[in-house]
Amino acid sequence: MTTERLEEDTVAVTIEDGIAWVSFNRPEKRNCMSPKLNRQMMRVLDDLEFRDDVGVLVLTGEGTAWSAGMDLKEYFRENEAKGLGAVRNAQRESYGWWRRLRWYQKPTIAMVNGWCFGGGYGPLFACDLAFAAEEAQFGLSEINWGILPGGGASKVIAELVSFRRAMYHAMMGENIDGKTAAEWGLVNEALPLSALKERVTEVAKVLLGKNPVALKATKDAIRRVREMTYDNAEDFLVRAQEAANSFDNEGRKEGIRQFIDEKSYKPGLGAYDK
Ligand code: ACO
Repeated sequence: MTTERLEEDTVAVTIEDGIAWVSFNRPEKRNCMSPKLNRQMMRVLDDLEFRDDVGVLVLTGEGTAWSAGMDLKEYFRENEAKGLGAVRNAQRESYGWWRRLRWYQKPTIAMVNGWCFGGGYGPLFACDLAFAAEEAQFGLSEINWGILPGGGASKVIAELVSFRRAMYHAMMGENIDGKTAAEWGLVNEALPLSALKERVTEVAKVLLGKNPVALKATKDAIRRVREMTYDNAEDFLVRAQEAANSFDNEGRKEGIRQFIDEKSYKPGLGAYDK
């Protein structure tokens, strides 16, 4: 029996000690992304982005899945039956929140607790950092049901792993576990599921200790320079730092002062005291 989940219940949020824990919340459907979930996720991102009590956002999944990709029934079949307008609208809703997440104001961490398929690679790539359970399973299963890895998934795998691995992964439709995903560079680290939340919390706490203006400038810089020549990147980074200075006039001066004058910390070994 299937109970229809209300739109507002498709995403769960808990805020604790500066960390927003955001979960795909359709465990009974392995957290696949329906139009309802996509709309709700955008609302949640809107709500959290500039809150003072949120410094880091973690995206995870309820139950055994991170996300089983797009909802084959509600996202694909039902929208295709309605026509091109409905298809394009559903794409806008999903791509929209992934794009929003790629350029999010706060640092973001994907905590991949289980299944991660197809369309799930969009939000996976959108998060700045990614930690996976060794038990998690990653797959571009599109080929197994007859489409190409769309919605950015082909781009994500081609960006993050080697050409041969990307081809094999996309063409064969075989899954890899969290350990292999870490070896390939799809995620930063893999840990036993039982240790995953603790490690992610530890990383989030480190990020909470850094200058937030510098963090936003840094994460955007790393994404932007990937597509630039060296000279363009050099120029962009000068301007990006000068723009960041206008939001944070004192932070970096304080960082220099605590190191040079006060000698209370060493930037090579940790962050200054905000
Ligand atoms: N779309 C729609 N429904 C889904 C999806 C999905 N992507 N994934 C799971 N479900 C539903 C199942 O239909 C089932 O619904 P029901 O209880 O009404 O029958 C329910 O979620 C539970 O799924 P099971 O298959 O019973 O769960 P199980 O734990 O045995 O398997 C697995 C999990 C391997 C993730 C399996 O559900 C699966 O293969 N899902 C599809 C994965 C996939 O290929 N996603 C699309 C990627 S391509 C893209 O995103 C563009």
